[in-house]
Amino acid sequence: VTTERPGDQGMVRWAPPGTGETATTVYDGTFHEPAGGMTEFLLVYKFGLAEINTKVTILAEELAHKGRGNPIEHVLPRLKTPASITAKARRIDCPLTFEDLRSRIRDIAGIRIVCSFVSDVYTVAEMLTRQPDVHLVATKDYIADPKENGYRSLHLIVEIPVFLSDRVVPVPVEVQLRTVAMDFWASLEHKIYYKYDPDIPAELRSELSAAADDAARLDQRMERLHREIHGPRR
Ligand code: GTP
Ligand code: MG
Repeated sequence: VTTERPGDQGMVRWAPPGTGETATTVYDGTFHEPAGGMTEFLLVYKFGLAEINTKVTILAEELAHKGRGNPIEHVLPRLKTPASITAKARRIDCPLTFEDLRSRIRDIAGIRIVCSFVSDVYTVAEMLTRQPDVHLVATKDYIADPKENGYRSLHLIVEIPVFLSDRVVPVPVEVQLRTVAMDFWASLEHKIYYKYDPDIPAELRSELSAAADDAARLDQRMERLHREIHGPRR
């Protein structure tokens, strides 16, 4: 990795110096990775993301054909950019070596699955994690236990094997599952927060969390209507 100006995240360059040297130096100028560089490092995450994306697409299409409608409204896969990986590494004091990045940053590959109803969130999470090649590493249930600001979503870290030409690599993927209402709130909160970052006024803070409660009530109401019309299960 070659850095030109420390502190300027956009200027971090990942280059294969081909020296066979082990990376030990932490972000203070130039240091070397044994081989490959950032593009190769990111490749397995791209493949892992594609694997999970295919699984979600299969579930959505199959469930749509089953008759009760597709529980998945939309899906958004995303790969962290090198700039955002190094920015997060710096934020969490993670040395800029591929080994450290691999073990400490688990949301390099991420997929957001936006569902119709709260029950769908758990149904889809269950369908995904019970597949034998999907290994559930961690769960954060911000629906059962919303964040202080009102944020709700179900977060999973799953590991999926990626089959390369000469080896199998387990790749972590962050899966965020939420309803349309939760997604609506989170998208707008993100914009508002970033505008006021870092000191968001206290009133605005509590209004945002009240808005999240409104969204949760809307979810309950829609879920109840759905059940009244279609029965307890999809
Ligand atoms: P990051 O370093 O941001 O990845 O957070 P983390 O490692 O503590 O993980 P967490 O599961 O709490 O959050 C992961 C992701 O969920 C974030 O990157 C956001 O995409 C989303 N998220 C978490 N909290 C909030 C929030 O308060 N508002 C919004 N809009 N999104 C959130
Ligand atoms: Mg993240």
